[in-house]
Amino acid sequence: MSLVDSERRVLSGMRPSGRLHLGHYHGVLKSWVKLQHEYECFFCIVDWHALTINYQEVGQISQHVMDIAVDWLAAGVSPSSATLFIQSQVPEHAELHLLLSMISPLSWLERVPSYKEQQDRLPGRELATYGFLGYPLLQAADILLYRAGVVPVGADQLAHIEFAREVARRFNHLYGREPGFELKAEAAIRKLGKKTATLYNNLRRAYQQQGDVEALETARALLKEQQSITIGDKERLFGYLEGGGKVLLPEPRPLLSDAPRLPGLDGGKMSKSGGNAIFLRDSSAEVEEKIRRMPTDPARVHRDDPGNPARCPVWPLHEIYTGAETRVALQQGCTSAGIGCLDCKGPLIEAVQKELQPLQARAADYQANPELLRSILAEGAERARNEARETLTEVRLALGLNYR
Ligand code: TRP
Ligand code: SF4
Repeated sequence: MSLVDSERRVLSGMRPSGRLHLGHYHGVLKSWVKLQHEYECFFCIVDWHALTINYQEVGQISQHVMDIAVDWLAAGVSPSSATLFIQSQVPEHAELHLLLSMISPLSWLERVPSYKEQQDRLPGRELATYGFLGYPLLQAADILLYRAGVVPVGADQLAHIEFAREVARRFNHLYGREPGFELKAEAAIRKLGKKTATLYNNLRRAYQQQGDVEALETARALLKEQQSITIGDKERLFGYLEGGGKVLLPEPRPLLSDAPRLPGLDGGKMSKSGGNAIFLRDSSAEVEEKIRRMPTDPARVHRDDPGNPARCPVWPLHEIYTGAETRVALQQGCTSAGIGCLDCKGPLIEAVQKELQPLQARAADYQANPELLRSILAEGAERARNEARETLTEVRLALGLNYR
């Protein structure tokens, strides 16, 4: 059993619902591409989650899964840095979901806001199902299965992450207590050696008596460095710091993206269903056409009416794509009616086309080579399964399912 450094481990997931657009790119994928060099990253295409909502129309799932995989790779998520895989190819997600269901109070699930919200938003879908009620629990299993400490998500997912934390806490509380835990922890402290033991005790006291979070962090760092004690003892001492038993499933924390939200072509939120998206694989001609057709400041009816960028849906895109100097000139041209809207859109069209070119070249490579794509996903599933199995071994043992 290896000790996982959960603070350095990232897991995130995306539901396969077709091709990705610029909103996904700026809001999520660019941050994943960065994270993959800083953390041990697992990125999961959650096809079972798609089923919880779309069980009535399953014909397109596999195409959507492949599309999302191509788009991730196109955006620069790299199989040599991160583990990319399909949820249903790692059946351990289902086993952990089942085992955690034993300790998940119905009331916790019913109170997660998305349960009621989605039923109201999608009335034709019959979402009063066992599977959909369990959506947050399946998500918790996705995360806890890898003992990932860091979960990059959007603000809409915070309630789900909080739920995962509660489930982990409950699990650790119920099963992290081995007989004689305190005695074993105290024995483990002595094995640290006198100096380190004193330091550990002081930090633990500072955290437990004064709530000093920095002391907790320092103590964790101290434990991480220790090479002379066993992994079991190390886990005990991690758990003992916080007062409880062993931390079997570490509580994950959300990592919110600080990227500004990319507006859609109509100024609303960019989304596939909104019909206002530029997709990563839109051709240059489509990009041009979509931006040319964008509405602008409604007060600017004629070419010689002065405009106001603050009222124009195109402007927020300039704020992302266009350098400050050009922006000053465009703003000046707009408010003085010195330029027309198509003049203003020109540099934007070019910037988006230029940004997408390398992505599309990569996407074309993968599309031309479905074998390669499949092998990347198979290899990802294999790597993910190896990690998942280790967690499940511990979980089964903690639950008394030990038949060796
Ligand atoms: N529910 C998430 C969403 O709709 C997708 C998801 C499933 C996920 N499992 C996850 C996100 C695990 C982060 C971690 O966006
Ligand atoms: Fe919008 Fe540019 Fe037209 Fe002004 S000139 S209204 S900012 S598109």
